[in-house]
Amino acid sequence: MLAKAPKGTRDILPDEVYKWQYIENVISRLCENFGYKEIRIPVFEYTELFQRGVGETTDIVQKEMYTFLDKGGRSLTLRPEGTAGVVRSYIENGMASLVQPVKLYYNITAYRYENVQKGRYREFHQFGAEVFGSPSYLVDVEVISMVDLLFKRLGLNNIELNINSIGCPKCRKEYNLKLKEFLRPILNDLCQTCKDRYERNPLRILDCKEENCKKLIKNAPALLDNLCDECKEHFEGLRSGLDNLDIKYNIDKNIVRGLDYYTKTVFEFVSVNVGTQGTICGGGRYDGLVELCGGKPTPGIGFALGIERLLMEMESQGINIPEPEGVDIYVASLGEKATAFASKLVFQLRSEGINAEGDLIGRSLKAQMKYADKINATYVVVIGDNEIETNKAVLKNMKTGEQKDVSLDSILTRLKNK
Ligand code: HAM
Repeated sequence: MLAKAPKGTRDILPDEVYKWQYIENVISRLCENFGYKEIRIPVFEYTELFQRGVGETTDIVQKEMYTFLDKGGRSLTLRPEGTAGVVRSYIENGMASLVQPVKLYYNITAYRYENVQKGRYREFHQFGAEVFGSPSYLVDVEVISMVDLLFKRLGLNNIELNINSIGCPKCRKEYNLKLKEFLRPILNDLCQTCKDRYERNPLRILDCKEENCKKLIKNAPALLDNLCDECKEHFEGLRSGLDNLDIKYNIDKNIVRGLDYYTKTVFEFVSVNVGTQGTICGGGRYDGLVELCGGKPTPGIGFALGIERLLMEMESQGINIPEPEGVDIYVASLGEKATAFASKLVFQLRSEGINAEGDLIGRSLKAQMKYADKINATYVVVIGDNEIETNKAVLKNMKTGEQKDVSLDSILTRLKNK
C-alpha cells in the first residue's frame, strides 16, 4: 500500500500536466472575457454546510461524502463540489454589499466516495462559476454561453446542451402532490432509497440510477409541464436568450440534477460520444441557497465542469494540445574547469529566459550527447579545456545537423536571437 495511490485518485504526471495548464489558461482567459473573478475556497468545510446546502436526501450527502472528526471533535467534510463553499464565502465575506451581480469562478479538486470507473473518480477536478444577485434569465444565458464558448475555443464538437426547469418552491409544492399520486401505486416496487425519499423529497426519486426504478418512473409527470407563470416566463426568456446567441439546445424534461439546491433552470452539457459518463458539465439556478445557508435572500446560478471528462472528450475527438517548448540548448562539458564554465553559461542562458541544461550527474561525454538527444535539445555545444583556451566551440543544431564554429561569448546572443 505504501507505493499505491488511494482508489479513485490519480497523479497528474509531468508529461501530461501541460494539458491541464493549457486548459486552465484557456479557462482563465475565458473568465476574464466574461468578467468573472477567481475565488479559492478551502478543501474542507463544516459537514453541516453540505448536508443543508447540497441536501440531506441526495446521493452525495447520503453515500458519497468524505466526513471525519478533527482533533477538536468538529465534523468536517472534504468538499464534494464547489457551490456550497462559494455560497458560504459569499455570505461570510459580506459580498452582498459589493456591486451585484457578483461573478466568481474556481478551479478545484472535489471528493466523492463513488464507484470508480472511467470518468468517475473519488478525487476529481472541477472548473465552476457562480453568479449572485440577479434573478434574470440573462444570467442563465450568460453562464451557458460561457461553457459553449469554452468548448468552441478548445475545438470541441458533438456536445449537446440539454435544458429543463424544475420550478420554484411554489410550483414544486403542487407538483409534489401530483408526483406522489403517480408514485403511490408503484411505491412498493421502488428501491429502499426511493421509498425513503417519497415523503421527504419525492423529486429526488426521478434521479434514481436503479434500472428497475428508472423503468417504473418513466411516465411520471414532468415539472416542466407544471410550472407557475413566473417560472414559465423565466424558461421562455432562457430559450429566447439562447436562440438570440445561436446556441442550440434540447429540452430534456428528465433532468433533475443530483443536488437539492436547484430552482428554475437546470442544464447539462453531454458528450454525444462518451455515453453514460458523458455529462461533462452541469449547472443551474439556486435562488434559495444563500438564504438556506444563513444569508439574505439572494438569487444565484452556476455550473461546474469536470476537467477529467473534458480531457477525455478532447482526446476522443483527437484534439491536439500544444506541447510546451522544449530544451533550447544542452551545454556538454568535459573536465572540472569546463564543467564550472558550463554551469555558469547554463545559468546565464537561463537568466535570459533560454531553456538550458547541463550535466548534473557526471556523465561521460558520449552519455551526455545521448542525454541531449533524449531530452530533444535543439542545440548542443561541447565545452572542454581546449574550447575555454581558444574561446571557441562548435554549436550544433540537432534538428538540422548544421554545425558552426562560434566564440563562447557569442552563444548567449545567438540563442537569444534564435
Ligand atoms: P455535478 O453535476 O455534481 O454538479 O458535477 C459537475 C461535473 O463534475 C459533472 O458534470 C462531471 O463532469 C464532474 N464530476 C462529478 N462527479 C465526478 C466524478 N466522481 N468524477 C469525475 N468527474 C465528476 C456540481 O458539482 C454543481 N456544484 C454544479 C453547479 C455549480 N451548479 C450550480 N453551480
